[in-house]
Formats: sequence, C-alpha cells, structure tokens
Amino acid sequence: MPIAPIAFGPLLADLDARGLRRRRRVVRQAEGEAADIELDGRASIDFCSNDYLGLSTHPRVVEALAAAAYVHGAGARASHLVTGHQTEHEAIECELAAWTGRERAILFSTGYMANLGLAAALAGRDDTVYGDCLNHASLIDGGRLSRAVIRVFPHADAAALDAQLQAQSSGRALVLTDGVFSMDGDLAPLPELAAVCLRRGAFLAVDDAHGLGVIGATGRGALEHFGLGEREVPALVGTLGKAFGSFGAFVAGSAELIETLVQRARTYIYTTALPAPVAAAARAALAVSIDEPWRRERVLALTRRFRERATTAGLPLADSATPIQPVMLGGAGTAVQASEALLERGFYVAAIRPPTVPDETSRLRVTLSAAHREADVDALVDAIATILAPR
Ligand SMILES: Cc1ncc(COP(=O)(O)O)c(C=O)c1O
Repeated sequence: MPIAPIAFGPLLADLDARGLRRRRRVVRQAEGEAADIELDGRASIDFCSNDYLGLSTHPRVVEALAAAAYVHGAGARASHLVTGHQTEHEAIECELAAWTGRERAILFSTGYMANLGLAAALAGRDDTVYGDCLNHASLIDGGRLSRAVIRVFPHADAAALDAQLQAQSSGRALVLTDGVFSMDGDLAPLPELAAVCLRRGAFLAVDDAHGLGVIGATGRGALEHFGLGEREVPALVGTLGKAFGSFGAFVAGSAELIETLVQRARTYIYTTALPAPVAAAARAALAVSIDEPWRRERVLALTRRFRERATTAGLPLADSATPIQPVMLGGAGTAVQASEALLERGFYVAAIRPPTVPDETSRLRVTLSAAHREADVDALVDAIATILAPR
C-alpha cells in the first residue's frame, strides 16, 4: 500500500461538518478591571477566564514580574537540572510547600506538563492508572503516556473505583482525579475516593487546578474543604495560571515523592525552566491571595448571586457551587450561537463542545471572578435569559 498523505482539507471539513471547528479571538487587556477586555477590537467583559481572584493585573503581581525581569533576565536559559533552577524557582517551591502543608513542592511550566510528568513518573507498563471519566485532558494524556493499563470510572463514583481496584491482580495502582472538575465546577468526592485508595493500597493524586486559591476556609482548595491531608491525598497538583493569575504549576507532596519527580518526570527534566519573572509574579500572587481574602469571598459571593438570578430566570445550570457555572445547552450549534449572541451584547462566554465535553452536553462555561462588578453579573444573566427565551 502506498503511503497516504496527511490531508488537512478533509480533517478541517469534518470539524466544520460537525460544528466543532474552534476559532481563536484576539484579546487585549482594556482599562479597568482584569475582566474588561477588547475582543477582536471590541469592548467586552470576560466571563470565561480562570482568573478567579482577578490577580492577573494586580499591581503587586505585575510589579514583581517587571522587577524580576531586570534582575534575572527574560529567560531561564536552561532546564532545572542544568543551570535553569534559579532563586525565584527555589523560593516559590518552598513557599508552595509551606502553603500546602507538604514537605516539598516541584515547579512545572504548565499544569498540562505537571500531570504528564507525574503520571508517567509514577506508573509504567505493569501498573494501572484509574481516572474519573470527566478528568481534564492532561490527566488523561498523562495516563496514556505512562503506558499503564487505563481504567476509567463513572463520574464521581467511588464505589465503581473500588470495584475496579478490587479486580486489579498485579502491579501498582495510581488514581487521578480533578479536585474541582474544570468544565462542570463540581467537586470530586475526595473523602470517599481517598478511603477507597487507602483501603486498596492505591496512590491518589488530585489535580486541584480550579480549587486552590478559591475554595476551602483559607483558599487551600478542595482538600481544605474536605479536611484531607497528605495521608489521604499523597500528591496534590496545582496551577499558577488560574486563581494565581500568572503561569506555571506544581506538585506538592512528601520529600521522597518530589525527589522522585525531580529524577523521573520527563516534562520537568527535558524542558527549559519557566522564566524567573513568571515565578516572581506567581509568588506575589500567592502572597496577595493570602493578604486579600476578600477576593475569595467576593468571587464566591458573585457566584451565589449569579446562581440565584440564573435560577430565578430558569437557566439550565449545572450543580456547582464554585465559580465555574456551566449553562447546559446540549447541541454544539446551540452553544456556539448563544456564545456569539452574547458577544454581540458585550459578554465573552466561550462555548464548550466535544471533545472537551461529552456529546450533547455542549455548554456555555460561565466563570466568575473577583474582577467582575455585580451589575456585570446581573446583565449577563439577563442577556443569557433573553437569548435562550423561546422565540
Ligand atoms: C484540571 C486542570 N488541570 C490542568 C490544567 C492545565 O493547566 P495549564 O493551563 O497550566 O497547563 C487545566 C487547564 O488548563 C485544568 O483545568
């Protein structure tokens, strides 16, 4: 058989036919709050970023980035294990370890890389990796990269996980779950998952990209919310590009776990360290999140406000108490049309479609931020209600 060409036309035509072609929009920060943007040159309010605390434009964060650039330069010049591990990286690792109450933390350039590195470092061909069916793509891809046997359990179903673990007859078991599910906003049943893992001898890693900084009495995420520690959840993944408004990610855990990742995580070893100014910005953001707890209280108050008004307006909300508030619309075309109609009214809410979410569960993924005004939230609910009202 001759080698087939890689033909782009049919690939793209297929996406068009299924209404799944995605489009990038050019964003520019506008005057005002972090959520005030220009989108393709037009003034909009951003209701789909992950900047939950509004820290991406916070003066302390921006000034830390600029100041560190003058001291350390723009780039880290090498990977961490060569000459790229700079003082800002070391400092943020120590601060994240202290903040999460773990012995050590390791900094990755992105959450995607953290999850790939973690899964492939801890599991191999003879092992089994378990994951919730709604896990983030980076956890799914991490499992695949490890070459372990993959078992997917129904969403938030600890009993199903238990049954799957019981059936495993050899090798190690690694269980991966989002803490707060990125497209749904609900929390994983971490106490139940942890109890199953402890009973069966499985290792539990929780990716709390959307919980850290936002939920828990002091913003320490889903684990704090449930009162869980290192015994129950030995590996905690966090990102710095969401509530911390900057960039990067980390894994926190025991000194032995982190040393294992330093030695074995290929997405840590074989890549240039993230720029020191970025680490400095993330350090400042972590400090601001601690110094200004009103930001967390505000985003949660705005979330409650959105839910109350949206419920009154009859919007099809998902069962979420976090700033991720999906409006469930079903078909991809419906979600895209709603997103475009909102854009015309000055609100940017992305339509989330397959393969990011299962078929027929396309949605508007509304996210709230401390950088929103009450009036913005009210106007968004009114606009969605108008757009979805039967004509
Ligand atoms: C649950 C979860 N984990 C990991 C990531 C990846 O993080 P990053 O954007 O830093 O690569 C995301 C989102 O992007 C996410 O939602």
